[in-house]
Amino acid sequence: MPTPHNSASKGDIAKTVIMPGDPLRAKFIAENYLESPVCYNEVRGMFGYTGTYKGVRISVQGSGMGMPSMGIYSWELFNEYDVKNIIRTGTAGAISDGVNLRDVIIAMSASTNSAYASQYALPGTYAPTASWEILSKAVEVAEKKNITCHVGNILSSDTFYDDADSLSQWQKMGVLGIEMETAALYMNAARSGKNALCILTVSDCPLRNLSTSAKERQTSFRDMMEIALDTAANI
Ligand code: HPA
Repeated sequence: MPTPHNSASKGDIAKTVIMPGDPLRAKFIAENYLESPVCYNEVRGMFGYTGTYKGVRISVQGSGMGMPSMGIYSWELFNEYDVKNIIRTGTAGAISDGVNLRDVIIAMSASTNSAYASQYALPGTYAPTASWEILSKAVEVAEKKNITCHVGNILSSDTFYDDADSLSQWQKMGVLGIEMETAALYMNAARSGKNALCILTVSDCPLRNLSTSAKERQTSFRDMMEIALDTAANI
């Protein structure tokens, strides 16, 4: 059954979905990495495609920016379309000193300043965590490809333009980088009994005032996509 946000029918979407934030990135991935991609959604321009990669059926769909958008699309994929695994591929700002432009981060956990978890009425603070099954496979794939990655905690923030200088506080806690979607994805996966992982490429260093051009991002984008696709084909 289509949802208000996705015109796909059940069965149109593979059991593993790769989710970049940008729907045009999803289109690019489908057209450049998948065999015989078929577009299953165009509602709100949030393109979704299903095709095959190394003989395995895989889908790729945009998530949009921020936890509310990721929250909607990933919840529907897990609960309306029987999706089992979601691998987010996105960009992040570096927080930790050891993380540099174009590095790849695999998010073992996602701290957050969002109130997303309040819906669960938990009597404490929830720790949004990646699925070990996908995380361990992704690290194995990266090692085989000789791609160095940082594996650890990231920050999923509700704000891109933040009035306060809070990043140095997160830095003291060893947080690797900042983005805006993963905590919601990990919480939806946990609540739905499904699996999720987030792989990021560092596009900027907000504490050092550095950023990459779109062109410079291509190589690290390729590294991240190859990890995501080969992980998706092996879970
Ligand atoms: N902040 C939040 N999200 C981001 C950033 C950032 O600096 N870079 C890429 N995604």
